[in-house]
Amino acid sequence: MTHYRLALLGFGNVGRNLVKLLGEKQAELQARYGITFVLTGIASRRLGWLVNENGFGLEAALADPQTASDQAVDTLDAWLTAARPDVLFENSSMNPHTGQPALDYCRAALGRGIHVITANKGPVVHGYHELRQLAESQGVRFLFEAAVMGGAPIFSLFREALPACNLKRFRGILNSTTNLILTEMEHGLSYEAAVKKAQDLGIAETDPSFDVDGWDAAVKVAAIATVLMDVPVKPADVKPVGITALTQAQIQAARAAGRPYKLVCQAEKDAAGTVTVSVGPQQLESGDPLANVNGSDSLAIFETDTLYRLNLSEGGADAYTTAYGPLADFVTISRS
Ligand SMILES: NC(=O)c1ccc[n+]([C@@H]2O[C@H](COP(=O)([O-])OP(=O)(O)OC[C@H]3O[C@@H](n4cnc5c(N)ncnc54)[C@H](OP(=O)(O)O)[C@@H]3O)[C@@H](O)[C@H]2O)c1
Repeated sequence: MTHYRLALLGFGNVGRNLVKLLGEKQAELQARYGITFVLTGIASRRLGWLVNENGFGLEAALADPQTASDQAVDTLDAWLTAARPDVLFENSSMNPHTGQPALDYCRAALGRGIHVITANKGPVVHGYHELRQLAESQGVRFLFEAAVMGGAPIFSLFREALPACNLKRFRGILNSTTNLILTEMEHGLSYEAAVKKAQDLGIAETDPSFDVDGWDAAVKVAAIATVLMDVPVKPADVKPVGITALTQAQIQAARAAGRPYKLVCQAEKDAAGTVTVSVGPQQLESGDPLANVNGSDSLAIFETDTLYRLNLSEGGADAYTTAYGPLADFVTISRS
C-alpha cells in the first residue's frame, strides 16, 4: 500500500468532479493499485487556503469545504506547509496569455518535491520544459493528461504506448463550444441562442470569448506542438482566428453545399524541425473525417513517422470525464 496526502488548488467543475471520482474509485484504487489517500488541502480564489490535517471527508468537502476544514491559512506557502501534500491537483482557471497564477503554483509545489497534476493548459504552454526539468530534479512528476481533450489519453498515449514514434502532423477539432455553436447554427439557431445552449449544457463559460475567438483551441495546439513535437509554441504564435465573423447564412450555405465550416486546429513539423501552427474556420470536403464531427464531440488526427494516421475521438465530454485525466495521472504516479 502507498498512502498519499492530496491537495486541490481550484475547486470548480473539474476539482469538484475529481473529488466525486476519487470517492467513487477509492476502493478500486486500493484493491487494484494499492493506493490509499487522504485529502488535506482545498483552495480556491473565494474559499482561500483551507486545511484539514486529519483529512477532509470527501462528501463533507463537496457539501461545504469551509465547514469541513480545521484550519485556514493566508498564503500558498503556508498552505503547502500545513497540508503537506504528496500530490497537488492544480485545477484553477486558465490564462492563455501568461499561464498565471497556475504556473507559479506548479513551480512552488514542484520546488518542494510535490507531484503536480493539472488540467490547466496554461502552465503546460508557458512552462512545460522548465516544469518538467524541475520535476525531474526533485524526483517527482508533472502530468497534465486532461489539458487537451479532457480525460481522453493523448499525452500518456504518446508517452507510454507509442515509444520511438514521432508526431509529424496533427489536425483536429478540439473546442467543443465552437463546434456545438456551428452545428446549432446550421440547424437554424442564431449565434446568441447557440452560445446560450452551449452555456446551458455547461461546456461554455459565462464569458465565451476564449472559445469563440479561438484562444482555447490555440492553447491546445500550442500544448500539442510543445509536448508532442518538442518545439516550444506559445498561444500567440498560433494567431488564432475565431468563428465570430461567420454569418448564419454562410454557415448554412456551406452545410447545404456539403462543405461545412469547422474550427480546425493544425500543427505540422517539417524535416528541418520547424513547426507551423494554425487555428481557424475552414470549409471541409464531406469526406474529411473532421467534417463529420458534430455538436460537442472532438476528433484528433495524428500523422506520425511510424503510424500514418491515428485518430482519437471523444463524445459527450464534460467536467466529469475531464476529471478522469487527473485520476489516471494519479495512478500513473503511483506506478512510477
Ligand atoms: N471543464 C472542463 O471540462 C475542462 C476540460 C479540460 C480542461 N479544463 C481546465 O481545468 C481547469 C478548471 O476548469 P473548471 O471547469 O473546473 O473551471 P471553473 O469551474 O471555472 O473552476 C475554476 C476554479 O479555479 C479557481 N481559481 C480561479 N482563479 C484562481 C486563482 N487565482 N487562485 C486560486 N484559484 C483560482 C476558482 O475559484 P473560485 O471558484 O473560488 O473563484 C475555481 O475554483 C481550467 O484550467 C480549465 O481550462 C477544464
